[in-house]
Amino acid sequence: MDRKGFLASIGLSAATFALINCIGCSKSSSSPSSDTSGPTGVDFTLDLSSSANAALASNGGYLVSNGVIIARTVSGTYVAVQRSCTHESYSLIYQGSANRFYCANHGATFSESGTVTNGPASRSLTTYHTQLTGTSLRIYS
Ligand code: FES
Repeated sequence: MDRKGFLASIGLSAATFALINCIGCSKSSSSPSSDTSGPTGVDFTLDLSSSANAALASNGGYLVSNGVIIARTVSGTYVAVQRSCTHESYSLIYQGSANRFYCANHGATFSESGTVTNGPASRSLTTYHTQLTGTSLRIYS
C-alpha cells in the first residue's frame, strides 16, 4: 500500500495530513517579544559606494539589513529603526514622501523617530544611531 492509500484507509486526506504536519511550525514557536522589539547589540557598517546599498544614495530611499530598516529621509539624514512592527512583527516599509514607517498588515504608522502615529501598534519602534564617515554608514545601538 502506498502513502496515499494508507492515508485513505485510515480516513485522512492529504490536506489533513499536511495540516497535522504543520501544527507546531507556527510563528509562536519563536520568541514573539524579540520579533516585536527589534534586534539588540546592533553594530554594523554599510558601504554607501557599493551598488548593494544604492537605495541609500537618494533621499527617500531605504533598505533592510540585520533586522533594521535604514532610511534616507527626504531631507537627506539617515535614520534606522527595527524592521518588524511592534504590533505583530510584520515587516515595515519606509514611505519617505510621508515621512513615516508603515505596516501594511493592520495599518500602523510610525514617525521617522519611531513614535507611533497610528495604531493598532501601541509601542514605539526601537531606534538605532547612525554615523556617516565618508561613504561608510555605521548603524549601532
Ligand atoms: S502587525 Fe503591524 S499593525 Fe499589526
